Amino acid sequence: MKERVDTLITATAISKRIDEIAEELSAEYAGETIELVCVLKGGVVFMVDLAKKITVPVTMNFMDVSSYGDGTESSGEIKILMDLNDPIEGKNVIVVEDIIDSGRTLRCLYDILAARKPKSLKICTLLDKPDRRVAEVNVDYTGFTIPDAFVVGYGLDYAQRYRNLDYIGVISFVEE
Ligand code: IMP
Ligand code: MG
Repeated sequence: MKERVDTLITATAISKRIDEIAEELSAEYAGETIELVCVLKGGVVFMVDLAKKITVPVTMNFMDVSSYGDGTESSGEIKILMDLNDPIEGKNVIVVEDIIDSGRTLRCLYDILAARKPKSLKICTLLDKPDRRVAEVNVDYTGFTIPDAFVVGYGLDYAQRYRNLDYIGVISFVEE
């Protein structure tokens, strides 16, 4: 089977949308500091590009989680593989994700972070697949809403590959 990637969102469109979100965030958090919390590994490319365009002070922190599940469907619970280095109490936290699919990961992560008493807690995702939603998540900032397809690039992987693409594409498998 050969893998084929068809462009869904171009690098130019992503960059333009990131400029818009960064502008919105910079205005909303004027006079404040934003603590960006990246969910590894998928969120890293988006978070770094977004951070570069925000004009208020920014700090960055990283977290790695995995869902307990059978591999294809995530379960309701998550396991923290790597926790944040610093407390978030009193901080303006924005969780930066690559994509919200079933919503289970973020639903659970949101509750874990909210219990640590940040000053504010918001969610920013590059992509949203609302058709697949199972758990309710309050998404504050969305880059693009996309149909139910498996996408790669710009942080998103298939078997750990394609994260480095500067665009987002739909992956399909074709007979050689
Ligand atoms: P969920 O919202 O708990 O179902 O899980 C979302 C996570 O599943 C994302 O953070 C991605 O790591 C992964 N994921 C969901 N859809 C895709 C996709 O289309 N491509 C790559 N990874 C995906
Ligand atoms: Mg992810």
